[in-house]
Amino acid sequence: MSLMRLAYASEATFKAKPVEKGVEPNVARILMESRRNNARSEIVGGLYYGDDQFFQYLEGEEGAVRQLYDRIARDDRHRDVITLLEEPIEARTFTNWSMKYVPLSSDVNRFLDNEGMEAFRPSGFNRSQCEEMITLIRNSSQDGRVVSHDGGRNKRSKQSVIPKGILAGLIAAAVCLVGAMAYVSTML
Ligand SMILES: Cc1cc2nc3c(=O)[nH]c(=O)nc-3n(C[C@H](O)[C@H](O)[C@H](O)COP(=O)(O)O)c2cc1C
Repeated sequence: MSLMRLAYASEATFKAKPVEKGVEPNVARILMESRRNNARSEIVGGLYYGDDQFFQYLEGEEGAVRQLYDRIARDDRHRDVITLLEEPIEARTFTNWSMKYVPLSSDVNRFLDNEGMEAFRPSGFNRSQCEEMITLIRNSSQDGRVVSHDGGRNKRSKQSVIPKGILAGLIAAAVCLVGAMAYVSTML
């Protein structure tokens, strides 16, 4: 039995809707179908969705991967499907996963920053950038949880600059201060 791996990029044809239970609803449906079918045909890999772009990595028995890719390429939920990587492999490199989903996580953002990319445009990825993405998918520790697509890198820059721990500390200190002032005022 020969094994192969395949990576492609494409553009979503749907407009991202507000997230439901932590994930964009169209993507949630794709993930549901993928997890059901891929487990059956022993295909593993990962799906990345961000900035209306998909990057998917598939690994498995050659016939099964090609058959699936044919089906995916005809799916009208995306367009401009471009094959980025397609080659035989000696052994599987993913374990226990039918289809891992990677959100716009900080390590992906770090990778984009390192590559000097403003937005996620996987259709232009070279071979080493594809390998980097595959490594990020492989190392992603989402543990099967479906996690939020946060709507793109632009939103990332609007996030609070104060770390959550420090913010909690400041709030606690403020509450203590108000309490102390109230106590002192009862003694005057
Ligand atoms: C970006 C994208 C990725 C997809 N990935 C998979 C996949 O990994 N496995 C899968 O079975 N279907 C995947 N699909 C869905 C297939 O195109 C197809 O709709 C589905 O396999 C049909 O499944 P069904 O015959 O069980 O209804 C994907 C679709 C899109 C748009």
